Amino acid sequence: MNLKYQTGFGNEFATEAVEGALPVGMNSPQRAPLGLYAEQLSGTAFTVPRSGNKRTWTYRIRPSVMHKPFERIDNGRWQSKPDDIDVTPNQLRWDPLPVPAEPTDFVEGITTIALNGDLMSQAGIGIHIYTLNRGMGDRYFYNADAEMLIVPEMGRLGFLTELGAIQAGAGEIVVIPRGVRFKVEPHPDDKQCRGYICENYGAQFRIPDLGPIGANGLANPRDFETPVAWYEDREGDFEQVAKFAGNLWSAPMTHSPLDVVGWHGNYAPYRYDLRRFNTIGSISYDHPDPSIFTVLTSPSGEPGVANCDFAIFPERWLVAENTFRPPWYHRNYMSEYMGLVYGQYDAKEEGFVPGGGSLHNQMSAHGPDLDAFEKASNATLAPQKLEGTMAFMFESRYIIRPTRFAMECSQLQHQYSDVWQGLKKNFAK
Ligand code: FE2
Repeated sequence: MNLKYQTGFGNEFATEAVEGALPVGMNSPQRAPLGLYAEQLSGTAFTVPRSGNKRTWTYRIRPSVMHKPFERIDNGRWQSKPDDIDVTPNQLRWDPLPVPAEPTDFVEGITTIALNGDLMSQAGIGIHIYTLNRGMGDRYFYNADAEMLIVPEMGRLGFLTELGAIQAGAGEIVVIPRGVRFKVEPHPDDKQCRGYICENYGAQFRIPDLGPIGANGLANPRDFETPVAWYEDREGDFEQVAKFAGNLWSAPMTHSPLDVVGWHGNYAPYRYDLRRFNTIGSISYDHPDPSIFTVLTSPSGEPGVANCDFAIFPERWLVAENTFRPPWYHRNYMSEYMGLVYGQYDAKEEGFVPGGGSLHNQMSAHGPDLDAFEKASNATLAPQKLEGTMAFMFESRYIIRPTRFAMECSQLQHQYSDVWQGLKKNFAK
């Protein structure tokens, strides 16, 4: 397996695992080089303006259409439709889900915590926890419903995709575009793996515009890594699993779909090391809005109102003067699901642990808990570094609907709201 990467965000990459696999000067010659089949994978409508147009040409051993018909299989705990339950305005928080004892691969181990929008209309997101303890072996997968942003929390994963191989662990993210075939194998030394998934039904994630920040900052394009071409030429009894229209489907096939020998295009998976994020914040006073920590954004049709923003809270210096350091108390238009990859989150030092999550929906009040408020209000203000921490947020314009599973599982913290009840009245005329 070739674990080399090409750098840049959404570039027109060109890569071949065998010299001469890429045709020169045309995309679909009458006879493609090396006896390969030419096949286009388009990630946007053909007529999207050039700046946002996404497609990749693959040169493969067999075309993707060579599989037997799909049949429905069990969706497990992977949901794509909201349950018929009332969505609570209460603040919600969960402990981590355990990795199952029984053999579980990446697709089998996806549990939906919450979702919004409607994948049939290409709006909204699904929020999932994955837990796995084995690789997918001869099973391959693609998701027609969504792009997948994967945030490993425990254990390193190998993503073997038709466009190349990616390795990632805690502190990194992987994005697999809609439709790309792949399988997931845990690192041989990591028996238990867990992490978060944002299944993005909407517009593809992109790096945000920088406005007055200028040409550099936040996630720099050169730090995004896309794999070079790699393929396997394997025949046997394989299974291709598809997620389509909210359900899982399975089709037998007799060869590996990871048979792309060369490809060129700008529609491809990538990884990003969140520790390379150039965190920008106040150097005078006040705690900036968390949008300053946006790594990737999936726009909705309304400018500035995201289908989903992926923001992170990494290691950083806090240097502002006369400023309360943790987030201020707030009630927001946008709905927020938060997770923790490692360390402690500064507004909640207890109860919010790696692999857990919290949900604060539209206009639901939240903010630092009693301990964090007391500590930050009485701290001596000096430059302070938050170290060894990586929290993140999936933020969406649409109300995030927890699943019935999420509301009934034993990991739901029923006493969560207690963390604010001890806040004192300090008012004095
Ligand atoms: Fe918040």
